[in-house]
Parts: sequence; C-alpha cells; structure tokens
Amino acid sequence: MTESNTTAQTAAWSKSGWRARPRIQMPEYPDAGKLASVETRLASYPPLVFAGEARKLTSALGEVAKGRAFLLQGGDCAESFAEFRADTIRDTFRVMLQMAMVLTFGAKCPVVKVGRMAGQFAKPRSAATETIGGVELPSYRGDIINDIAFTEEARIPDPDRMLQAYTQAAASLNLLRAFSTGGYADVHHVHGWTLGFVEGEKAARYADMANRISDALDFMRAAGVNQDTAHTLQSVDFYTSHEALLLEYEEALCRTDSTTGKPVAGSGHMLWIGDRTRQPDGAHVEFLRGVQNPIGLKCGPSISTDDLKRLIATLNPKNVPGRLTLIARFGAGKVGDHLPRLIKAVEEEGAQVVWSCDPMHGNTIKSESGYKTRPFESVLQEVREFFDIHNAEGTYPGGVHFEMTGKDVTECTGGMRAVTDDDLSSRYHTACDPRLNASQALELAFLVAEEISEHRAKQAAAA
Ligand code: PEP
Ligand code: CO
Repeated sequence: MTESNTTAQTAAWSKSGWRARPRIQMPEYPDAGKLASVETRLASYPPLVFAGEARKLTSALGEVAKGRAFLLQGGDCAESFAEFRADTIRDTFRVMLQMAMVLTFGAKCPVVKVGRMAGQFAKPRSAATETIGGVELPSYRGDIINDIAFTEEARIPDPDRMLQAYTQAAASLNLLRAFSTGGYADVHHVHGWTLGFVEGEKAARYADMANRISDALDFMRAAGVNQDTAHTLQSVDFYTSHEALLLEYEEALCRTDSTTGKPVAGSGHMLWIGDRTRQPDGAHVEFLRGVQNPIGLKCGPSISTDDLKRLIATLNPKNVPGRLTLIARFGAGKVGDHLPRLIKAVEEEGAQVVWSCDPMHGNTIKSESGYKTRPFESVLQEVREFFDIHNAEGTYPGGVHFEMTGKDVTECTGGMRAVTDDDLSSRYHTACDPRLNASQALELAFLVAEEISEHRAKQAAAA
C-alpha cells in the first residue's frame, strides 16, 4: 500500500472536506448568496432516508458480495421535473418487481431491489457545451442544476432547483414506500408478461419460464404460503439510489446517525460515483468515503488497476462486504479487455465487493436518424460477456444496473417487440440517455435469469 493510500483512509473526515479537493462536473453558481441560503434551508430539512435503512441495504448487499443474493438496480438515466407523475413511478416500480421475480426464479436467491429513483437528478456530461444550429450554450446538467430548454437563461445553474428536487424526491419516496407494502398484488399475473414477445425459440423459452414462475406462485397460494408469510409476499424492500454528483446538495442532506454517531447521506440509500468523477484525490471520492451508506463505483475502460486498488482502500478500508459495489460499464466487445484485470486487482487485495454490470453506458451510439440510442443486441452482448468472464474467473456476477422505464418508450433499438431506427422519434422522452422500455427490460431480465442460473449450475458441477 502506498503512502497516499494510508493517508486517504486514516485522514479525518468532515462533510465539507470535499471543498478543499479538485472538483469536476459541478456547476459554478453565479449567485453565491442564493446558493448559501438554499444550502442552509436544505440542511434544516428532514433527511429523505434513515441510517438504519442504509445499514440494512449494506447488509443485504453483503449477502450479494458473498454470492447468496443478486442485485437489481435500475431506473431513469435522469429523473425530470416535467415527467414527475405517480403513474411513471408506479410503472417503473412494477417492471422492477416483475424483473426481480424472474431473476429470483433464475438465481434461486433473494434479489436486492434498488431504484435509480427519488434523487437521480444530476448528470455528468462529456462536453461542457452543446451546439445547435450554430448556437453554443452550456450543457444541460440535470433538472437539479439547470433547465433542458435550449436558451441561455435556461442553462444558468439555479440553486432553487435543489429545493424542487428535494420535494420531488420526498414525494417519490412516499409513493414508493406505499407501494412497497402491498406492491406485489398486481405482479402476480405472470402469464401476461411475455405476450408481446414475438414467436421464436427465445420467446418460447421465456414463455416457458414465465409459466413455471406462475405455477410456483399458484402452488404457494394453494399451499397457503401466502397467508402464513403474508409479510414476505406482500411487502418488499425497495431502496433508492442516485449518482452523488452535486456535492452541495449531498452535504446539506448529510446527517449524523444517532445510533452509531457516524455520518450518513440522507439523500438516498445507495450513492454511486460516476465514471467521470472517480479521481482518487477528487472531491467526490472525498465526500463519499465518509458516509456510511453503501457506495457504487462506476468502472469504465479508463480505470487503471492502481486507481481501483486505491479507491477500494479509500472507500472501504475495513473491507465490509456490501459497502462497495463495482459497476462495470465497458461496452460490448470490450469487457474481456478490462474486467479480468480488475477482477485480478480485487482478488490481490482480498477485497469484498459486489460485481455488477451496467450494459448501458458503454453502448450509446448516435443513430442514423440522429437520436442517441443503444442497440438492444449490444446491451445483451455486454451482459453475456460479463457472465462469461466471471464464469471463467470463478468469481460471482452479483448484479445488473439498467437505465429503464415502465413506459412504452422508443429510445433503445431492437428487442423482441422490435424498435427500429425509424421508430425512435415516436416516443423518445428521456431527459438524458436512452432507456429500455418495459418490454425490453423484462426481456433482459429473462436473459439474465438464464445466465445466472447457468452460473449456479456450473458452480454446483465444480463443487
Ligand atoms: C449514469 O449512470 O447515468 C452515468 C452517467 O454513468 P457513467 O458514470 O458510468 O457514465
Ligand atoms: Co445515463
């Protein structure tokens, strides 16, 4: 371990310590007085999540790290103020539960459900400006920072947006908490799930799996399992997560956990560090190392094995299983170039991590029609490569991370109910990256269920 590693993990931490570190991808607010007054107000508001919930998620993810559970994380690329409606939240929640049921069936273990919801508002951007028709303006950075409208005024960062994001996150969480105690009710009609899948060998396999899930549920009902364990079937643990990008917001919602006396981020259960802001000495890593929430770390092609080792030492110095989830996002065809070296680094450190696969962010392309899209085939391909490599290395492919919605949007091309390049313009609603629609998300869940079930079979054969 290098000198700077030792310093990083033992140095004192304060919730404002990140301010002394280099920061990138964060806005320069023109009105410092207004910013300070918003921060003061937010700091006086109740936290959105509680430390006990964050600790419960860490222990659930600890089970994933040990190969005894599977992680499903998904939701919008960017939540937006304009699309804030109960049915949008309900539909995404419902598809996540359907996917979770399919995955539970394939993985034969509990599935930990984490939404990219109730706080996923701030976006890192590859370019600082955007040019349309010869006009160059600052990039849109998510509704918590500026407005998507293409005018000079709209793109000025406004601190008041943090208050609106807080309010929207609180209302979304309120609804999710309500759905979580009774939300399984309408996901029991498994037969209908594969109706939209067109004929073919794959569709038949998935329909067969849906039938078997349905039979298992019928059996449980007939056997009275439903009544005896009403709690487990009718309520669900559902957690929230977002990229902790806007550190003024995160700091203002940081609280001291009265049970342990340790800091906790009150903005969401799980927070992750994006691929662009994971510099070991940067502001984002500095803030996140000090809060007790479970942390995700996006790992793209540019992460060096040395940086990964430093980040592991800084973010999880006590090697707590479930504290750190590594979210691999390399792009189809590139997983083999990077994942094996990162797995080796993790094994060398003896680090306990959850390995998750984000097959979205390495597969974004510009379509012929000009829309930013993701070919569903590339998404499937990256997932297959992720599983193949873990199978070969003897490590556990513990989870998946998707950008998806419960709505019937046309943002990613392909899938069994094929979305074509020409279809993209018909229902393209995302505020940022293209999302899987409900049918594509479910199809992906069936594929992942097959992969994880094959992984289990290989493990059993090797034992
Ligand atoms: C995201 O998850 O929306 C994102 C920006 O991801 P990444 O940091 O991996 O590019
Ligand atoms: Co995205």
